Amino acid sequence: MGSKQASLAKPAHRFVCSACGSVFPKWQGKCEACGAWNALEEQAPPRILPGGLKPGGRSEKIEFVGLSGESPPPPRVPTTIAEFDRVLGGGLVPASVVLVGGDPGIGKSTLLLQAGAALGRAGRQVLYVSGEESIDQIRLRAARLGLGQAPMEVAAATQLGDILASLKTYPAAALVVIDSIQTMWTEGVDSAPGSVTQVRAAAFELIRAAKAQGFALMLVGHVTKEGNLAGPRVLEHMVDVVLHFEGDRGHQFRILRGVKNRFGATDEIGVFEMTGAGLAEVANPSALFLAERRGNVSGSAVFAGLEGSRPVLVEIQVLLAPNPGGSPRRSVIGWDSGRLSMLLAVLETRCGLKLAMNDVYLNVAGGLRVSEPAADLAVAAALISAASDVPTDPEMVFFGEIGLSGEARQVAQADLRLKEAAKLGFLRAGCPKRVAGGAKRTSGPPALQLVEIGHLTDLVAVAGPGVKPKHLRPGAASAEDRMGQGTT
Ligand code: TYD
Ligand code: MG
Repeated sequence: MGSKQASLAKPAHRFVCSACGSVFPKWQGKCEACGAWNALEEQAPPRILPGGLKPGGRSEKIEFVGLSGESPPPPRVPTTIAEFDRVLGGGLVPASVVLVGGDPGIGKSTLLLQAGAALGRAGRQVLYVSGEESIDQIRLRAARLGLGQAPMEVAAATQLGDILASLKTYPAAALVVIDSIQTMWTEGVDSAPGSVTQVRAAAFELIRAAKAQGFALMLVGHVTKEGNLAGPRVLEHMVDVVLHFEGDRGHQFRILRGVKNRFGATDEIGVFEMTGAGLAEVANPSALFLAERRGNVSGSAVFAGLEGSRPVLVEIQVLLAPNPGGSPRRSVIGWDSGRLSMLLAVLETRCGLKLAMNDVYLNVAGGLRVSEPAADLAVAAALISAASDVPTDPEMVFFGEIGLSGEARQVAQADLRLKEAAKLGFLRAGCPKRVAGGAKRTSGPPALQLVEIGHLTDLVAVAGPGVKPKHLRPGAASAEDRMGQGTT
């Protein structure tokens, strides 16, 4: 009894998970909260006073106010890189904190150097602190980007105390870039740089400085192989905006994606192209994604997609390869492999299209990652086209979600998708029935001819009347028969 009381009175050391930040009273191999192995680190207990009292013992009264009342929108400082500003929601908000995550080598340092230089040229004071590269390396990169003369202050440092003290001598700073937060360390915390405790402490101090001094803070964060921002996910909770810089290093396209934004919408993307002279903005991504399309190839269909408020047309490519024995491969790049399996099952069960003996390779051309279910119809069109070896109509785009019974379902913002397709010279759109009817009723005669698709069997009729018998389930209606059924 006595020993128990003693242990209660004097809190023992605690163990913090370096992956998710959960706290445990004793060490264990696996974190019960997130399942990470060997991630618990010992940490000295925090000093807690009873009742949340301040160390001095005096607490002040806080004021509560009603919801009504004038609060102006946050002021914005445009970086003058339009694709960046779009994702931020219209520009940088002073005293806000932006976390930019992404794989190593994807171009985070390049992006922030360019954004910083642009802001510097617009007459703002910009400080860039690198913990990863030397001054010489940064200068070399700047020269390569044609930014050698841009007004911007750079420093190579990792010790947080030095950085914070130096920042105080720049009261007019508008933007401070920290590249990367994982390299920063503070002496007050005795664990290695990059560990959860260090990253959290460093971020906390920097954020406090940003709020106190009023500069916008941009933190670069590395991403682990699981796709999480390395170290603590808690970092995402501490900042105002989380952006992911993604792309395939084999491709030149880079997508800046909003994941969290306290000042704007989170589904916006900015599209860039990595060139020999840095990142170039791509104002019309559809044209670029479709640039290398060859119209007369089977297994390809154009999807009229939507990324945030912006329509993006991409080509979906499917290749079927025979696999006489063993379990067939399903290889997907840029889309959800679970959804592909579902579509294959629906095509087999509802339309008699048999692909179980084939390896299926699906690729979203250009390296874009599509997450919309609206791509179902385009993927189905590409699959049917590949199975029949008949190219889809090269002047047709597709969009629509497919349900488990094979019905095509309505998707959001059909008008925007149609407008973009018309702008790029497409003549027809395969889309769900209700959308087609709705568009006819509301917005006058659309520039595109709408091909209504009620059920996947209609798509088989439109996209591939010549499905080969080897892909037809025994007893399934032939393509010509199904065409005769028309819409259901
Ligand atoms: P970087 O910004 O260093 O990536 P991160 O900070 O995310 O690790 O970008 C590195 C890659 O970008 C590198 O592989 C080379 C390429 N790159 C170009 O292709 N063109 C350029 O002008 C620059 C500066 C980099
Ligand atoms: Mg870097």
